[in-house]
Amino acid sequence: MKQSGGQQGGRRSRPTRREAKPSEGRSPSANDQRARRPGRLAGRVALVTGAGQGIGRAIALAFASEGADVGIVEIDPAKAKSTADAVFELGRRCVAIVGDVGMRADCERAVEETARELGGLDVLVNGAAWAQPNTAVHETSDELYQRTFDVCMTSVFWTTRAAYPHLKKSGNASVINFASNAGTEGMAGNAVYAASKEAIRGFSRSLAREWGRDGIRVNMIRPIAASPSLAGWIEENPKLAAVQARAIPLGRFGDCDADIAPVAVFLASDESRYLTAVTLPADGGGGQER
Ligand SMILES: NC(=O)c1ccc[n+]([C@@H]2O[C@H](COP(=O)([O-])OP(=O)(O)OC[C@H]3O[C@@H](n4cnc5c(N)ncnc54)[C@H](O)[C@@H]3O)[C@@H](O)[C@H]2O)c1
Repeated sequence: MKQSGGQQGGRRSRPTRREAKPSEGRSPSANDQRARRPGRLAGRVALVTGAGQGIGRAIALAFASEGADVGIVEIDPAKAKSTADAVFELGRRCVAIVGDVGMRADCERAVEETARELGGLDVLVNGAAWAQPNTAVHETSDELYQRTFDVCMTSVFWTTRAAYPHLKKSGNASVINFASNAGTEGMAGNAVYAASKEAIRGFSRSLAREWGRDGIRVNMIRPIAASPSLAGWIEENPKLAAVQARAIPLGRFGDCDADIAPVAVFLASDESRYLTAVTLPADGGGGQER
């Protein structure tokens, strides 16, 4: 479920690039110690879109904890900075690009800057998404339709197309895209978002077939998680949220850090080396499609 509001459309920001700051000179924090542990993604470079909050941020930090250097793209500059700072705290390098994934140039720039600054690209996570909630189809303008599709689906086309030469060079690459129960089950008031999420699945399965021989796996996560956007909806609709949480077999909404990010680490790592074209439902059993 996607319930974010916020300004969208035609908003473009200049990229900010941050160099990694050495963490010497401080007494070792828990983060420093975690960063020193040999990680499952050691030596890899990942790019995570929409990494300013929620699932994207959780994945960026989990990847950094597992030894990856991380590029992030985020439309909100303050959120981009916050995530980049947290990656630096974990002792990893980070390139933070303030950009709009609904714009082709920003997607391409994010891929190129990440690969150039961090020395390649092994993992691409397309986490950014946006939808205007509670909008019936008959009230949806062409502009809103296009904007929703561009941010949610066309961005995935733009980033993956730009990333291909880098991922191919990696020879051991993983692309992770996001599906939604809104798509698999339908969601009144969110039809365009739902359609974009199922489009991502067809696109991803096809990519998996095209790119398998290049050593690039393409998988999807279909999460349910109390990210800030869902948390806002829970706050506004406490009774309905409680009913929905009870309907989830595990009895609660997922946690971005503890429940979703580890699934992305698994899909990015060699532990899932024989998995491609799958949708993992990280949803506590809540989705009907299994
Ligand atoms: N949270 C859930 O329960 C749930 C359910 C199904 C699918 N998903 C999918 O998981 C992914 C992450 O979801 P979430 O709930 O953490 O999202 P979220 O809305 O909490 O965070 C999305 C992030 O992307 C950024 N963003 C939005 N538009 C952008 C743009 N045009 N360019 C760059 N950045 C942009 C936002 O600023 C935000 O930081 C999304 O693809 C979403 O569709 C989430």
